[in-house]
Amino acid sequence: MTKITAAITAIHGYVPDGVLTNQDLEKMVETNDEWITTRTGIKERRIASPEQALSDFGKEIVDGICEKRGIDPAEIDMVICGTITADYRFPAAANVICDKAGCVNAWGFDLSAACSGFIYALDIGRVYVENGTHKKVLVIGADVMSSIINYKDRATCIIFGDGGGGVLLEANEEGLGVQDSILKSDGSGREYLLQRLGGSAQPITKENAESPEQYVFQEGKTVFKHAVSNMAGISVEIMEKNGLTADDIDWLVPHQANRRIIDATSSRMGIDNDKVMINIDKYGNTTAGTIPLLLWEWEDKLKKGDNLILASFGGGFTWGSIWLKWAY
Ligand code: UT7
Repeated sequence: MTKITAAITAIHGYVPDGVLTNQDLEKMVETNDEWITTRTGIKERRIASPEQALSDFGKEIVDGICEKRGIDPAEIDMVICGTITADYRFPAAANVICDKAGCVNAWGFDLSAACSGFIYALDIGRVYVENGTHKKVLVIGADVMSSIINYKDRATCIIFGDGGGGVLLEANEEGLGVQDSILKSDGSGREYLLQRLGGSAQPITKENAESPEQYVFQEGKTVFKHAVSNMAGISVEIMEKNGLTADDIDWLVPHQANRRIIDATSSRMGIDNDKVMINIDKYGNTTAGTIPLLLWEWEDKLKKGDNLILASFGGGFTWGSIWLKWAY
C-alpha cells in the first residue's frame, strides 16, 4: 500500500496595512534606528487597525488559500490556529475564523505555543491527513501582537509586529510533504517571556487593571541565550537524525525573532545565507506568524522536491524543527 504523507498544497499570508517604523518608535520610547537595526535586524513592522482582530487575519488567509487552490471553504475539514492573541479567551479563534470564512464543515481549535505555534499546529494537522480521516486540513499561524504589547516598554515594543499565514495540507502519494519533526518544551522558562496578568493565575482586577504586567514581559538576554542554543540545536538534530547534510537542504525557514539568532542557527547548520529565508526587517517578530509569512513570500522560488527545514523557539519555552519536502 502506498504511504500517505501530508503535503502543503497552497499557502497564503496576510499583514495589515499599518506600518510602524524604527523612526516612529524613536518618538515613542528611548531608542534609535541604529540600535534596533544592529541588535535585531528589524526596520519596520505591521500593525493591525483597531477594527481588526485575529479572526480577520484568519479570514483573509482562508480566502486566499481557497482561491489559489480553487476550492470552496465548505470543503475544508479542519482548521488549527497557532496563536496567543485570539479574539477572545474563548471561544477559539479557529471557530470564529470558520464562521467568518464559511468553513461550515470544519471543526478546529487554537494551539497556544507562542512562536512555535505554527510548527506545533503543522505537526498535529499532518497526523490527521496521514491517517486518512481528514482530506483538507488548514493550518494557520498568526498573531496580533500589538494587542498585548506595551508601547512604553522599549524592551518589547521594538521587536513585535502583526501578521501571519496559513497552509493547506492534503494527502500526497509521491512521498512529498512533512518528513519528520522534533518538538520540545520547557515550562520552567515561562518567567522569562510571558503575559503575567489576565489568566487564571492572576485575573485582571480593578486593582491591577493599569499594571504593565497585563502586557508581554521579556527578559531578552536570557531568552536570547536559550533561543540560540535550542533553535540551532534542534535544527542540527533533525539533520543528523535524517542523515541530511547542509548540501541536501534547499531552504532554512527560521522563526524571525532576531537576526542574530537566525545567523547563529544557519551557521551551526553550515547553511549559506542565500538559502536562509529572512524578512524580519519588514515585519519584525509576528510570533506564530513568522514561518508561514516566509513560506508565502518565498513561494515563487520554491521547487517541487525542495528540502526545507522549519525551526522555531519561543515563549513557554517551546521549540521545534520540521523537515518537509515542497510538493509543487
Ligand atoms: O520570539 C520569541 C523569542 N524571543 C527572542 O528570541 C528574543 C531574544 N532576545 C533578543 O532578541 C534580545 O535580547 C533583545 C533584542 C530583546 C535585546 O538585545 P540585547 O542585545 O540582549 O540587549 P540588552 O537587553 O542586553 O541591552 C543592551 C543595552 C542595555 O544598556 P546597557 O545596560 O548596556 O547600558 C539596554 O538598556 O541596550 C539597552 N537597550 C536599548 N537601547 C536602545 C535595551 N533595549 C533598548 C532599545 N533601544 N530598544
